[in-house]
Amino acid sequence: MRKKLVVGNWKMNMTRSEASAAIESLLLLIEPTTEVELAICPTYLTIETVAQQFRRSRFHVGAQDVFWMPSGAFTGSVSAVMLKDMGCHFCIVGHSETRGRFGKLEIPESTVSYFAETDETVNLKIKALLFQSIHPILCVGETLAEREAGRTDEVIQAQLKGALQGIEGAEFRDGVVAYEPVWAIGTGKTCDSAEASRVCSMIRKALTDILDEDAAQAIRILYGGSVKSGNAEELFSQPDIDGGLVGGASLVAEEFSKIVRSA
Ligand code: PGA
Repeated sequence: MRKKLVVGNWKMNMTRSEASAAIESLLLLIEPTTEVELAICPTYLTIETVAQQFRRSRFHVGAQDVFWMPSGAFTGSVSAVMLKDMGCHFCIVGHSETRGRFGKLEIPESTVSYFAETDETVNLKIKALLFQSIHPILCVGETLAEREAGRTDEVIQAQLKGALQGIEGAEFRDGVVAYEPVWAIGTGKTCDSAEASRVCSMIRKALTDILDEDAAQAIRILYGGSVKSGNAEELFSQPDIDGGLVGGASLVAEEFSKIVRSA
């Protein structure tokens, strides 16, 4: 039986004092005995603050990205060794925003290549995380144009294959995959639960082919993209959806705690 998991992706939000206040509220609002596994992925700069506040709880802190080399002349980067040192339990990899794929593009098109994430870099990052025993949260998902061209399954299967290249099932069985349709992220448009469920089942089948049956049954598959308290319960009750990766709604403690309760 897979344990439900709800992860808050705070993205580029929250100063230290804001983070501290938000976590204080969360700890008051969420029953410490909850059966749901919970994690918050703040910016690198607030990981330590959140980790300290979570110390006496069963909640985890995670990161939003990582660089694959352990140390060296990589200006602006943070390694898995450093994340481990900070107490990170999870790390998001291959988020559509780090891949430069946006639901509603607010940056100049010419700057997209700056993000420079590919399936190959995602693969290197996953290997670096596994080496440090940090659980990767691998994000996959199609853009609106890819969905309209009927390429959803093909795009996701290629992302999974590329990201998990050379990785054994036994190594990734505690890992997480998040299905995040790019067009649903931060746009208020949620993928309907039947379609989200279909894609998550397709992902589990692909994981069986790429890794093995045992790993595919153990890996938690989350849905992400405009999850809120009003749609969480229906999404999380689908057989192959093991919880959610929550962006905007994770910034408000009351709303996030309701989502955790729905799980
Ligand atoms: P959203 O973001 O919940 O704000 O749509 C989800 C995500 O990007 O992980």
